Amino acid sequence: MVQQLHVASLSGGRLCQSSGILRKGVQAAKMKHYEVEILDAKTKDKLCFLDKVEPNATIGEIKSMFHKSHPQWYPTRQSIRLDAKGKSLKDEDVLQQLPVGTTATFYFRDLGAQISWVTVFLTEYTGPLVLYLMFYFRVPFIYASKYDFSTSKHWVVHLACMCHSFHFLKRNLETLFVHRFSHGTMPLRNIFKNCTYYWGFAAWMAYYINHPLYTPPIYGEQQIRLALILFLFCQIGNFSIHIALRNLRPPGSKTRKIPYPTKNPFTWIFVLVSCPNYTYELGSWLGFTLMTQCLPVAFFTLVGFIQMTVWAKGKHRSYLKEFRDYPPLRSPILPFIL
Ligand SMILES: NC(=O)c1ccc[n+]([C@@H]2O[C@H](COP(=O)([O-])OP(=O)(O)OC[C@H]3O[C@@H](n4cnc5c(N)ncnc54)[C@H](OP(=O)(O)O)[C@@H]3O)[C@@H](O)[C@H]2O)c1
Repeated sequence: MVQQLHVASLSGGRLCQSSGILRKGVQAAKMKHYEVEILDAKTKDKLCFLDKVEPNATIGEIKSMFHKSHPQWYPTRQSIRLDAKGKSLKDEDVLQQLPVGTTATFYFRDLGAQISWVTVFLTEYTGPLVLYLMFYFRVPFIYASKYDFSTSKHWVVHLACMCHSFHFLKRNLETLFVHRFSHGTMPLRNIFKNCTYYWGFAAWMAYYINHPLYTPPIYGEQQIRLALILFLFCQIGNFSIHIALRNLRPPGSKTRKIPYPTKNPFTWIFVLVSCPNYTYELGSWLGFTLMTQCLPVAFFTLVGFIQMTVWAKGKHRSYLKEFRDYPPLRSPILPFIL
C-alpha cells in the first residue's frame, strides 16, 4: 500500500512540525523542495511518497517520516539505499548532497528486529564468565559425582580461572564504560550466533581445563610464568588501544579518525598496525593457550584470529579508502605480515 505524506512547508502542515524538519529554519524554506519515493528493494513496490521534503533533510529524518506511515519499521530497522542492491546510506547523509534529482527514489530493506549493541556484548561476555566458573567449581552433572564441588590440585587451573574471569569482566566493563559505539543496534538474530560462539567455546575450554584428569603444561612453572606475562602484557595493550579509540571520538558523535600512537607506549604499535586491539587480543589468547596447554583453547585462539583478521582487513581497507594520508607502513593485524 502506498502511503503519501505531504510534508508541508514552514507555514503549514502538522506533519512537518512533528517530523522535525522545521528545525532547519527560514533559510531552508526558500530552497526548492524534493519529492521522495521509497520503494521496496525486493519487490520494487512503492511503499511511501513524501512530498515537499526540504533539501537539507537527512536520511535519518527521512527514516523518521517513513516510520510514521509504517510504524512496524522503526528507524534502526530500516536500510535506505540509492540502489536496490547497494550499500545503506548513513543517517547523516543529506538529501541535496546525494546524486538524486528533485524527485528522489530510495530503496528500503527491513533489517529485522534490532537489539542494542551493549545488550549483545554484555550477553556475549557474561555467558563465558558464568559458564567457566560452573566448570571451575565442578557443579554437579558435569564430571563424575565424586568430584562435585572439589578443587583442582594444580595451581595453574586456579590461575587460568583468574585470567579467564579477568578477561571477560574487563570486556563487560569496557562495553559499559569505555567503548563509544557508532551503531546503537544490531539485528536480533546476531545475538544467537555470537552467543553460540562465545558460550560454546567457553564451555568446551572450561570442561578440559577444570577436568579432574587435566595435566599441567609440559615445561611447568617456567612455561606458566612466561604465558602469564604474555597474557597480562596483551591485556594491558588491548585496554590501552580501547582507550585510545575512545579518545578519538567525542561523546555522542560517530566520528571516525585515524588512530595514532599516544604517550602510552602500548599504543606505539599503531605505527605498524591498523587494528592493534585485535593483535593484543590474539596475544592474550596465545598466552592463555601456552598457560593451559589445552587443545580447545588453541582452537578458540585460531578461530578468533581468523575472524579478527577478516575484520581487520576490512577496517584497514576502509581507512585507506577514507583517508588519503593514511600511514603507508601499517598492516591490518600483524606487522609486515598480514
Ligand atoms: N576473541 C575473539 O574472538 C574476539 C573477536 C573480536 C573482538 N574481540 C574483542 O572485542 C574488542 C572489541 O571488538 P570490536 O570488533 O568492536 O573492535 P573495534 O571495531 O576496533 O571497536 C572498538 C571500539 O572503538 C571504536 N572505534 C574503532 N575504530 C575507531 C576509529 N577509527 N575512530 C573512532 N572510534 C573507533 C568502535 O566504534 P564503532 O562502533 O564505530 O565500531 C568501538 O566502539 C576487541 O578489541 C577484542 O578485544 C575478541
